Amino acid sequence: MMNVNVDQCIGCGKCIEDCFASDIEMTDGIAHIKNKTCFKCGHCIAICPTNAVSSNTLDMKEVIEYSKDEFQIKSDNLLNFVKFRRTIRQFEDQAVENEKILKIIEAGRFTQTGSNMQDPSYVVVTEGISELKALTFESLKNIGQKMLDDMTPETRRYSGYARMWLNMYEEYKENPAENDKLFFNAPVVIVVTADSIVNGALASSNMELMTNALGLGTFFSGFFVRAANENKDIRNLLEIKDGKEIVTCMVIGYPKISYKRTVPRNKPNIIWK
Ligand SMILES: Cc1cc2nc3c(=O)[nH]c(=O)nc-3n(C[C@H](O)[C@H](O)[C@H](O)COP(=O)(O)O)c2cc1C
Repeated sequence: MMNVNVDQCIGCGKCIEDCFASDIEMTDGIAHIKNKTCFKCGHCIAICPTNAVSSNTLDMKEVIEYSKDEFQIKSDNLLNFVKFRRTIRQFEDQAVENEKILKIIEAGRFTQTGSNMQDPSYVVVTEGISELKALTFESLKNIGQKMLDDMTPETRRYSGYARMWLNMYEEYKENPAENDKLFFNAPVVIVVTADSIVNGALASSNMELMTNALGLGTFFSGFFVRAANENKDIRNLLEIKDGKEIVTCMVIGYPKISYKRTVPRNKPNIIWK
């Protein structure tokens, strides 16, 4: 429930104007939240000039007062940060601190979700990485083999991947400790699941930014997602609930390499009307 402290409310009406759910009314010059259509987006908490609004179900201790110095990023810096980000596939043999993993998840948790569903969930794999890897390599090999066995116009387009997965599997089997073209011997994997793929993907994108801000490197493993979506054993191992989509798999560790510059990209395809 959202509540207004009647002693603090000055009746300015800002919360009413900003309430998308139209759940707040003015009664005798005081804002009153009906808590009927409220979906707990917290805009009323964020906008109130006298900090009169609170929730008794959410943790108010995590609300932070705005200060320009601590909250603002220059747009050019943000753009450079986005441009300089690279997929990292070479990792140091070094564990990632739990505080850093939690900070990455925090960036996902505070990402917007449709209807404020807050549906993304996170499976953090560290100790179980070898088991997950073995299952995934096996799965990719089976998918690849099946694609090559019954070639259709659709699977023909991806036959390059099918062959790549078979080769990856063979190399891994030869030397599992060294040859890992799936997770590249990274120490951490975070699998992001969600009811809505868009919500999970948006969360993942912010998590990636945080990963880089922490001096870590990451890549998204589409191969893992492909394998996990075809193999119930992977879902079971990760205890992923029915109905949750496996949206991304972030492979994380300390980068062994550093880049010197950004890379060029295709020109944007924009329609101005
Ligand atoms: C959805 C998605 C899936 C990806 N899957 C893989 C993967 O399975 N293995 C891998 O090594 N890289 C994977 N990548 C990394 C891309 O190959 C990489 O982003 C692209 O080549 C551009 O390089 P950059 O990220 O350094 O700009 C994936 C990236 C995305 C966004």
